[in-house]
Amino acid sequence: MNAGSKWFDVCAEADLPPGACRAVDADGIQIAVFNVDGGYYAIENLCSHEQETLSTGELAGCEVTCPRHGARFSVITGAALCEPAEEPVATFAVRVANGVVQVGSDRIYFDE
Ligand code: FES
Repeated sequence: MNAGSKWFDVCAEADLPPGACRAVDADGIQIAVFNVDGGYYAIENLCSHEQETLSTGELAGCEVTCPRHGARFSVITGAALCEPAEEPVATFAVRVANGVVQVGSDRIYFDE
């Protein structure tokens, strides 16, 4: 986390079971937080194709499918896995503090 970065509460751990997703607004940044087999991952909640909300997409394993045109993204790396999306989405750090899932406000891009 960089100076000036912040952590934002998402929900209690119990409210984000495996296979679930929660959306959060972190000072204007829309973030979707997923539980994949007990691990928490966060990506920007805007499809890189035409800005659809990814938190309403279907999660299968570590991949979420955009509900508008079907692009798939890795919720771990943010990589676009199929067309029509060609650009990745940002990821964010996730932590648990006192039983509360939190996301960091810094966008993180993985090299592809
Ligand atoms: S808006 Fe997500 S695939 Fe088109």
